[in-house]
Amino acid sequence: MKGIVLSGGSATRLRPCTKVTSKQLLPVYNRPMIYYPLNTLIKAGIKDILIIVSPEQAGHYLNLLGSGKEMGVKFTYEIQDKPEGLAQAFLIGQNFIDEDSVCMILGDNIFEDDFSEDIKNFESGAKVFAKEVSDPKRFGVVEFDENKKAISIEEKPQNPKSNYCVTGLYVYDNKVVDIARNLKPSPRGELEITDVNKIYLEKGELDVAMVSGAWVDAGTFDSLLEAQILAKNKLQDKMVI
Ligand code: DAU
Repeated sequence: MKGIVLSGGSATRLRPCTKVTSKQLLPVYNRPMIYYPLNTLIKAGIKDILIIVSPEQAGHYLNLLGSGKEMGVKFTYEIQDKPEGLAQAFLIGQNFIDEDSVCMILGDNIFEDDFSEDIKNFESGAKVFAKEVSDPKRFGVVEFDENKKAISIEEKPQNPKSNYCVTGLYVYDNKVVDIARNLKPSPRGELEITDVNKIYLEKGELDVAMVSGAWVDAGTFDSLLEAQILAKNKLQDKMVI
């Protein structure tokens, strides 16, 4: 299993803090934000990790994280020239992924849970992780039937069909590269991860598990503050980096 941390984007919602640096390098309590998603992958046993960054910040990431040797892993870097969608990561990363499965985490997603078992036991198809939230309109939203089986997924719906959002950790088999190649940009001009998930759902190959611990998408000032508190109170003893 290969790992990808998607850490590009322009983070306009966090201006002026992100005017000269990347959101995922901002401090979350005592570490740069990206340490938390990296920790999630490394703890789950993933040792070969691609970090996708924006061109302006590439040097900062290299200086901060280097080869990965210090953390007992190997980092590869790629540049995403423009933030053209989460699913573009599988095109940028296609040589890196090669013939393997891949686990992608967003550089601003901070999880309390340990996903080792989910990742070690993954065989094929796709697996995503859902969490109940109070503001589902901000996210990809998954709807379940009475047997808790996922029946629809929508990106930032006006009228969400449930309060369960898809969090920013995704596990895919190698088919994801071909799926990403055939995606069309959405009306907002992005290759949407939700469209990838819909394709697996239509094939009956999407497994949706629940996130049981805390989870924060640290993309706004309020959620960044929430992430700081989570990191201080609950994550310190879970960090291996
Ligand atoms: O956090 C979970 C949510 O992440 C999911 O529920 C949504 O389905 C998914 O689309 C995504 O929604 P966001 O609104 O959080 O996406 P955002 O555009 O903020 O991008 C998420 C992270 O990925 C952010 O840290 C920036 C980075 N990014 C984003 C884009 C569009 C990139 O590195 N490259 C990109 O092209």
